[in-house]
Amino acid sequence: MSSMSRRHLMIAATGIATAAVSSRIAFAQTAAPAAAGPFKLDPLTYPVGALEPHIDARTMEIHHDRHHQAYVTNLNNFASEHPQIATMPIADILGSLENVPEAIRTGVRNNLGGHANHTMFWQIMGPDGGKPEGEVLAAIDRDLGGMEKFQTDFNAAGARQFGSGWVFVTVTKDGKLAIENRPNQDSPIMDGKRALMGNDVWEHAYYLNYQNRRPDYLKAWWNTVNWNKIAERYAAAKAGTLGV
Ligand SMILES: [Fe+2]
Repeated sequence: MSSMSRRHLMIAATGIATAAVSSRIAFAQTAAPAAAGPFKLDPLTYPVGALEPHIDARTMEIHHDRHHQAYVTNLNNFASEHPQIATMPIADILGSLENVPEAIRTGVRNNLGGHANHTMFWQIMGPDGGKPEGEVLAAIDRDLGGMEKFQTDFNAAGARQFGSGWVFVTVTKDGKLAIENRPNQDSPIMDGKRALMGNDVWEHAYYLNYQNRRPDYLKAWWNTVNWNKIAERYAAAKAGTLGV
């Protein structure tokens, strides 16, 4: 049996519905009504105002507690009819969307992609995030032309994204970096890659404070980046253990 067939069987088997979903299940914030189900919204690990003045507290609150919560709620609704979507690692599902039942495939693409992208996003931001150094800085110098060019190119890619989407730094297993855009809630995981880091350029990420000035948001966002976390993600990517 091919590995694809095996994976198809794995995801097609209904099996146990909800129990062993994630080892890092956390309680959703009280501000966000948490629907019952296997998918959970992790709380932020810093206060909603921690990224001010670059990202305001109200934007963070609405973004996390409402937008991200909506993806999680939608996933729990899908899981009530198709419990198998909660029994595999998120990256495995996003990496083989063709095996998801057709009736929910687009919904899973959008909502599980959104769940994965935002989970990464909250992680790679934070107060006192340090600075790029060590292996990550060496990879930026080698693959992205150094910090100044990297930031210029990343901001340009984010500004160019038409409509809603993301700008990512993707990382391969051998540690090679590249700047890549994705529309909507698509994730590099869908192409067998991983996101080292990324910035959300949906209007909901910045509109309250920046309105139509996406380039200003892109520029200010660098002040929120948690380089310590990115160093951890880089090491995990090279070890083959980076999930979302
Ligand atoms: Fe978002």
